[in-house]
Order: sequence, then C-alpha cells, then structure tokens
Amino acid sequence: MAVVLVGAQWGDEGKGKITDFLAEEADCVVRYQGGSNAGHTVEVMHEKFMLHLIPSGILYRDTLCIIGNGVVLDMEKLLDEIEELEKRGVDTSNLRISYRAPLVLPYHKKMDELEDRYKRIGTTKRGIGPAYADKINRAGFRIVDLIEGGSFFEERFKAQVEYKNRIIKEIYGEEGFDADEMLAKIKGEAAKLEKYLADTSLLIYQAIKDKKKVLFEGAQGTLLDIDHGTYPYVTSSNPTAGGACTGSGIGPTSIKKVVGIAKAYTTRVGEGPFPTELTDEAGEILRQRGAEFGTTTGRARRCGWFDAVILRYAVRVNGITDLAITKMDVLDDFDVVKICTGYKYKDKILTEFPESINVLKECEPVYIELPGWKEDISSVTSFEDLPLNAQRYIEKIEELTGIKTALVAVGPKRDQTIIKEEIFC
Ligand code: IMP
Repeated sequence: MAVVLVGAQWGDEGKGKITDFLAEEADCVVRYQGGSNAGHTVEVMHEKFMLHLIPSGILYRDTLCIIGNGVVLDMEKLLDEIEELEKRGVDTSNLRISYRAPLVLPYHKKMDELEDRYKRIGTTKRGIGPAYADKINRAGFRIVDLIEGGSFFEERFKAQVEYKNRIIKEIYGEEGFDADEMLAKIKGEAAKLEKYLADTSLLIYQAIKDKKKVLFEGAQGTLLDIDHGTYPYVTSSNPTAGGACTGSGIGPTSIKKVVGIAKAYTTRVGEGPFPTELTDEAGEILRQRGAEFGTTTGRARRCGWFDAVILRYAVRVNGITDLAITKMDVLDDFDVVKICTGYKYKDKILTEFPESINVLKECEPVYIELPGWKEDISSVTSFEDLPLNAQRYIEKIEELTGIKTALVAVGPKRDQTIIKEEIFC
C-alpha cells in the first residue's frame, strides 16, 4: 500500500514528525523531491534529530529509506548527515539513493546566493533552484555520472565549470572554481556514497507489488510547489502528490492515499503574500509557543491563523484523502481561535485560492471565530478526550474541507499523536 504525505501549507507543517510516527508501521519511506533546503525535526525519547536529506524513517532499523531520483543531492551535506546519525548510534545501512539523483554542486550554492540578490525569493541558499534549473536544462550531473566517470562526463563537467565561472566572475565579479579540484572532491564523495546507490524505482515497485507499506515523504509544501504554489515565491520542485510519481519512478495507479499535513495555524518562511499573517501579539505567541524558527536556516517564521482556503486548494491539487493536523497544543492558551474561510478581494468574497499573486497580495482574510479550549492538551491520547472546543475546531476544519482527520499531533514527541483513523488499512 502506497501513501503519500504532503505538506498542505507553506512547508514546516511537522511532516517529519508524522512521517516518523507512520514509519514505525511502514516498510519503506521515500523522499521524492527537494534537497537539503528541507529540515525535518524528529524527537525520540529525549533526543532531537534534524534531518535534511535522509527520510525520517531512518530512525527505525528495519525501514528501507530511499532518496528518489527527484531529490537534488548535496553529497557533502548528505555525508555529514550520515556521519552525525552514525555518531549517535543510528544505523544508516538501510538507506538507498537513486543512481539518477541530480547533484547540487558547489557552483549551484554560489549561484543561489548571487542570483537571489536579484530574484529576492529569500531562498535557503542551498543551491536548489540552480541545481533543478541545470537538470531541466540538461546541464546537470547525476550521481551515476560520477560513479561511471569517463571522458564524455569529464568534458561536459569541465565545460560547465568554465561556463559557471564566467558568470560568477564576469557578472558578479567573484572568484570562480577550480574544475580539477572540484572533480576530485565530488568523486571522493560519490565513492563514499556508492554503497547506498540502487535502482530505487525498482525497489519501490517491488515493495508495492509485495503489498508492503510504502510512505512517500514530501518536503516543503503545496504552496511552495513550482507549478501550484505562490510563484515566484516557491521552491523549484513539485512537493504536491504528483511529484511522488515523477520523483520516485512509480505510476499514479500505485498510490492509495494522500495525507495532507497541516498545522493548526499557518506559517511561512521567506518572502511572498500571506493573507492570515499576524504581526501582532497573537503572531508572536504562535511563534514562541510553536518554536517557529527554521530547522535549516534558523530564520523566524511568519505566523498566522489557520486558512481553510489554502487547505481546500491543497485538497484539490494533491487529491488529499486524509488530514493530519499538527501542533494543536500551540493553540492551548487562546481565548478565541480563528479560521479563515474566504478572502475579501475588492468587493468580492473569494472562496478559492487565487491564481494571481497580485490578487493574493490584496486579499483580506474573512474569519470565523471559535472558542478556545484553554487547557493543556499535550498529554491527551484520544480524540474523545480532547476538550470539546478542541474537537469542534478539528470538526470545523473537516467541515470546511470535506476531508476527515486521521491524526492530530499535540506535541513534538512520537507518543503525542492522536489516532482518529488508521492510515494503513
Ligand atoms: P529554496 O527552496 O531554497 O529555493 O527556497 C525557495 C523558497 O522556499 C523560500 O521562500 C524558502 O524559505 C522556502 N523553503 C524551502 N524549503 C523550505 C522548507 O523546508 N520549509 C519552508 N520553506 C521552505
């Protein structure tokens, strides 16, 4: 059975925690897009693990963890992550990496930093956009190219470094890269990773055929999707559910469920319009209580009320079948909680997420207010034991989206997860 987990907002929905929770039951966890721009925090017992490239399932010894062909691979960062996990006693021998994974090379990171001065997206500077641009432009390199080597690859590689150096030096007036030095470095990194390489599409296909439980773990979120997000303030891949197919090499008919993960409020990092953003004390309470600071960059996240227009849109573009609502406990102290049900735009009320970023910039949220529950819910273990007002809040989200909630997270730890409906059934 194949289940896709997608972020239903602007990323940082707590996907790492939900993936980790479901990974206990899963046989295989697959990352299908993004790169080291992602940051998943998983808390187990009293330990906190920060994962960027490695699927959250790595903390279970028997779960096969796959980095699919849709992920852009920063080998240096991946090796650091493997080393850190091994140092802390986590076995990484169940990690597999697609031979087809495109590489993030040092010049991609440099270009990301330089180009963002003009694009002003507020990227994570992890080289994601330039690496995907090269992939689509057929100017990139896959990890298999490094393993195979040969004169065709080396000529292409040197030509690329020369081309990138011209841009870096002539346009930006900065130091370029030494092609031989870079080649030696990345060949060394690829050699260290060779033992993890596999035909991952085949592994996933076989797992699904054998009726194993396969989880596809999306990074970022729906509104950061290159096609369906708030372009240009997006990432350069497809976090939406369709990306699970192209980014892993399986067909859409294999997917049984799509779980949309949404925080009980909304956050966003970087630039771009955000209708329910709170710049007052309520926003600060959400940021502090929710520890809303980026795992990858440490940047403070912008915070706001829950937006049902966004969730309805996420339901549509991902085909969401189940919801996982995270960080419910962050709302514990509010007298009143608000849910945005539509946007006021000029003299109209919009109930669908607008296509135009200019329209979105001018949208004013229309809220319904619900009474808060003013109770610590962090140790509640069943839906029925939640305060009634907290239950009503979840039910209101279900009513506004037409989708049932399967999981509710009431804290960062594995056991702070309420199961309302089973996912693998
Ligand atoms: P990039 O992915 O580094 O190119 O950044 C593009 C945009 O996506 C920026 O606004 C980032 O802040 C945002 N972004 C990228 N990865 C994440 C993530 O994992 N969580 C939240 N925002 C992200």
